[in-house]
Amino acid sequence: MNPPKSLTSDENKSRAQLIWELNQVRQRMARLEAADIERRRVEKSLDKYEKKFRELVNLLPQTIYELDKDDKFRFTNQVGFDTFGYDQQDIDAGINFYQLFIPEEREKLNRNIQRIYNGSEVEGHEYTALRKNGTTFQALIYSSPIMYNEKPVGLRGVVIDITDRKQVEQDLKDSRDQFRNLSAHLQSVREEERSYIAREIHDELGQALTALKMDLIWMNKRLTPGQTEIAEKIDSMFNLMDKTIQTIRRISTDLRPGLLDDLGLTAALEWYCEDFQNRTGIKCNLRIKPAEMEIDQERSIAIFRIFQETLTNVARHAQANEVKADLRIKNHDFVMKIIDNGIGISDAQVNDPQNLGLVGLRERVYPWNGRIEIKGRPNKGTTVLVWIPLDRNE
Ligand SMILES: Nc1ncnc2c1ncn2[C@@H]1O[C@H](COP(=O)(O)OP(=O)(O)O)[C@@H](O)[C@H]1O
Ligand SMILES: [Mg+2]
Repeated sequence: MNPPKSLTSDENKSRAQLIWELNQVRQRMARLEAADIERRRVEKSLDKYEKKFRELVNLLPQTIYELDKDDKFRFTNQVGFDTFGYDQQDIDAGINFYQLFIPEEREKLNRNIQRIYNGSEVEGHEYTALRKNGTTFQALIYSSPIMYNEKPVGLRGVVIDITDRKQVEQDLKDSRDQFRNLSAHLQSVREEERSYIAREIHDELGQALTALKMDLIWMNKRLTPGQTEIAEKIDSMFNLMDKTIQTIRRISTDLRPGLLDDLGLTAALEWYCEDFQNRTGIKCNLRIKPAEMEIDQERSIAIFRIFQETLTNVARHAQANEVKADLRIKNHDFVMKIIDNGIGISDAQVNDPQNLGLVGLRERVYPWNGRIEIKGRPNKGTTVLVWIPLDRNE
């Protein structure tokens, strides 16, 4: 509806014009009233949400905060106050986020905050947090920018007290170190003992048998032609003696292959591989690259023992007719892969802590933070992978 024409002043307005204007005013008032009701409804529901949000935030067990662009607090939850020892008055007085961390780390904090403002940083970072009373604790902080009209106007985030976690991590690391040291110590004690026993058996028993053999030769020479019975006895004694000397050699090289000490790892492995093939009939294939590896004695012993135990397992359990071993040095790591073509070890066997042979294998590489992986595929054989870092001595 259009207003009647020729409106100049109120005196000149016709009755119809006045009624029309009155209606307009009424309508506007109704609209305003409706808008006001809506505003109050929205305010009320915002109040409700704000209350809900605050309750929720106060329930969280870690510090929640909001900062303005000058790094002053706009908000923190009750845990924040309790954790850091500040109160609302401190916030009103304008304490700064940086005051919650030791001075040495404020630079780092500043850098990370700038990154967050630039939109690149999302991961948590660790800091040493500083309470009002001067004590400190380890904290992990996650933050993200508060955006307004697509511009960052502040920061909100969470400070997580990780003191307990740090302690547990440290304890775990300490006990791992202890375990590693103990394990290395036990290995070397065991090797020393084996070496000693091998030497004793070889030297003492070996020499005694050699002396007995000399005596037999001496007696044999003094036999008269008619003493055939004694001659036969001496003959069988010779046989037994030779066998015993061989057995003693085998036991002592098993305990500690002299080759390993005298000629080094490659020679010892080659010898073992060939000896294994002769004893078991299982074909043994060995590839070593570079042919002469420069590996210290401790690691060489560990590698030799792992090789020995793995091949013994192949002979005992795999029902294989071939085993291939590939040894190389790759990026400062010694890597050995031993593959058989047998029935394949099961995952249950690999993970069973009662399998002391396999546990022993893993223990062999602990001193250098090495790693052993064992995988089997049914009727497709078993693979044993061994890594030993060569560039650290712990
Ligand atoms: N090369 C292999 N092929 C198939 N099974 C294997 C192989 N090596 C080990 N196993 C299985 O894993 C088990 C654990 O091996 P280990 O701890 O050395 O114990 P042990 O040799 O004294 O039986 C063996 O009993 C066997 O069942
Ligand atoms: Mg075994």
